[in-house]
Amino acid sequence: MPLILGIETSCDETSAAVVDGEADSPNMRSLVILSQDVHRLFGGVVPEIASRAHLVGIGPSVQAALDEADTKLHELDAIAVTHAPGLVGALLVGTSYAKALGLAAGVPVVPVHHMEGHLFATLLEDSNATPPFTALLVSGGHTLIIDVVAWGEYRLLGQTRDDAAGEAFDKVAKLLGLPYPGGRPLEILAETGDPSRFRFARPMVRSNSTAGDADYFDLSFSGLKTAILIAVRDAENAGTIDELRGSIARGFQDAIVDTLVTKVERAVRLYGRSRVVLGGGVACNTELQREMQRRIGVRGVTIHSPPPRLATDNAAMIAAAGLFRFGLGERAPLSLTAQASLPIPGMFSVTTTHDGAASKL
Ligand code: KG4
Ligand code: ZN
Repeated sequence: MPLILGIETSCDETSAAVVDGEADSPNMRSLVILSQDVHRLFGGVVPEIASRAHLVGIGPSVQAALDEADTKLHELDAIAVTHAPGLVGALLVGTSYAKALGLAAGVPVVPVHHMEGHLFATLLEDSNATPPFTALLVSGGHTLIIDVVAWGEYRLLGQTRDDAAGEAFDKVAKLLGLPYPGGRPLEILAETGDPSRFRFARPMVRSNSTAGDADYFDLSFSGLKTAILIAVRDAENAGTIDELRGSIARGFQDAIVDTLVTKVERAVRLYGRSRVVLGGGVACNTELQREMQRRIGVRGVTIHSPPPRLATDNAAMIAAAGLFRFGLGERAPLSLTAQASLPIPGMFSVTTTHDGAASKL
């Protein structure tokens, strides 16, 4: 049973965790997450500050994760580290640290793709979140709908063409005068709103769209963001912004949730999946979880949502994905580098032939 240390530094969370077990049944022995609250002051993540904070936090985080798991360095079978995608300066801290630690302790390093980590996160506390399943990954940087055929076999169905779902939450929250990151504050504000006051257009949702169309699964949030901007300006000009803020938030959240659920529902139907696994910070949204449950979580389909600590960035999911990659014999060379963007290993797209049949690219 391999014992893995996970390290995650791709954005603004410095995290370390110890996980053992097998790819389909990872067991979390410890998880330490240092969130960099300093970015709130700037209304967004400042890359340079993130890198410096990782440098300060990485050593103590790893030590705390090992201590909490009652594990010594030499007992580890591997060190799994996020090497892509993310802020390069931030990723460099984690990858450099992992390589140095691995070299000093004689432990191999396994490179992990951050988004593959998100696919494994729910499994850490929900043993049924195994493939095949439809995945919705919604974070500050990504919005992906993936048909997970098996671990390592990822059929990319749709992604955002502009803003990520979390980014849309954050930008709209800012327009409404809420602090960063705005997802959770916006959700709380939306609870006070009147759902019938604003109905914003659902982006990229045509009822006559079919599986072969480019916009069938893809998403776009920039138009919705502009519609909110106009609603906020109109309310400000009319002097009604204070009474309408909650309803605008509610209208925005309803539009984004409706769109995400509609697309996931299409994916579940097309591939006949009986499980949906959510991941990323936006998966914490109660309304999203509720609508997934209400519209898809029926007729034998189960919705698997990670708890907030595992939905947002953490090293346990990196260690879990690392466990799978370690089992495949994957090891990082000493020349391992960090990359700002990179497709998930094992991801493929589908093209549509003229007769409508989907085939592998
Ligand atoms: O996965 P994550 O921790 O970091 C990235 O990899 O980006 O996701 C952070 C994102 C932020 O945009 C934040 O506003 C959003 O997740 N978020 C939420 C909620 N909690 C966090 N969005 C909507 N509703 C929430 N309850
Ligand atoms: Zn993430």
